[in-house]
Amino acid sequence: MSVAGLPVGEQSLRTSGLEGVVVADTRLSHVDGERGELWIAGKRAEDLALEVPEHFETVVERLLDLAGEAQPRVRERLAEARSSAFARIPNLIHALSLPDAMDALLAATAQGSAESDSLGVLGALPVYVAAAARVRAGQAPIAPHTSSYLAPDFMSMLGLSPNPARARALDAYWITVSDHGLNASTFAARVVASTGSDVMPCIVAGLGALKGPLHGGAPGPVLDMLDATADIEPRSWLERELAAGRRIMGMGHRIYRVRDPRAFVFERTLAQLANEDGANSKIAARLEHARRVEHAAQALLRERHPDRPLCANVEFYTALLLEAVGIPRELFTATFAIGRCAGWLAHIVEQRRTGRLIRPAARYVGPMPD
Ligand code: COA
Repeated sequence: MSVAGLPVGEQSLRTSGLEGVVVADTRLSHVDGERGELWIAGKRAEDLALEVPEHFETVVERLLDLAGEAQPRVRERLAEARSSAFARIPNLIHALSLPDAMDALLAATAQGSAESDSLGVLGALPVYVAAAARVRAGQAPIAPHTSSYLAPDFMSMLGLSPNPARARALDAYWITVSDHGLNASTFAARVVASTGSDVMPCIVAGLGALKGPLHGGAPGPVLDMLDATADIEPRSWLERELAAGRRIMGMGHRIYRVRDPRAFVFERTLAQLANEDGANSKIAARLEHARRVEHAAQALLRERHPDRPLCANVEFYTALLLEAVGIPRELFTATFAIGRCAGWLAHIVEQRRTGRLIRPAARYVGPMPD
């Protein structure tokens, strides 16, 4: 049998999605899918994220440094970039009013950050995400506080109280997702960087790839799943999803054959938050329910794919963590983008330093000319 005209032996290229193909050297992060290990900026992700008091800004600095473009005063320059981005908001109202948060972020970044350097683009993202949310809700955007770190300031711009325990959880989240090998959005950003393009279009490419539900678009649907199974037996709900031909969001991964190590980091962060953040017996109950759904999903997927381990990925507990921080679910992917932008920027630097255009080949399988 052949697929779309390809002989059997040649189908793998067509269906592969490039798994296992190494296309870059990187100093930024290392993913071991068999052992479930992730190192970012030379440290284990759990050590980096749960080290207190570590801030996202420090990891941005480390990644850029490792990539070969040391940047001074990262915290201050990100804060200045937030101020500049906020001043541009009146010109970006149309972009920021788009109904989908990622579309708004894409449009505002493309329109508003053309002149900016790396930190200028990164500093603008949280301002656009927060302003778009406020504009969509018919509320005035809230100005950044340039003396704050990014995590509490992002919360404040969203109109959330920047409770220190929650801000620390958001820092841990952004640090953990800051880089992850050559994921689809990072690859997209590197491809654009390899053409010699500017930073902004590289970031727009990353944002476009991240929006998809198979990459960064899963955590909102994970929360929908947890809501849908809150009062029922998860297994029967999950079976119905699979029978309808849908994938279970937050489960499975291209690289990991074991549970995603980031899921453990987020579970620990959530447990800490549940302890520290007075009002939060709700977090503990949600966590317990999520574990039940995860176990049911894992068991069901194991029955269907006994040879292909499909376990919880980063998005499963991202959903819970961002919910506990108070981020509305329609902003989950855009919030992920802020963290991952650190990795994109460092990969752009690495790619530029190679001086090499990324230009793979395709095998022609179309009709022959007469
Ligand atoms: N739910 C149901 N089935 C799944 C699944 C999921 N979450 N993840 C993989 N599978 C199935 C595939 O349909 C495939 O079945 P088939 O062989 O009958 O066609 C099989 O498991 C092998 O999966 P594969 O397509 O090779 O996985 P991949 O490496 O291409 O995909 C993901 C990785 C992440 C895209 C995939 O696991 C997925 O769609 N997960 C849900 C979305 C998600 O959580 N994304 C966030 C990723 S961090």
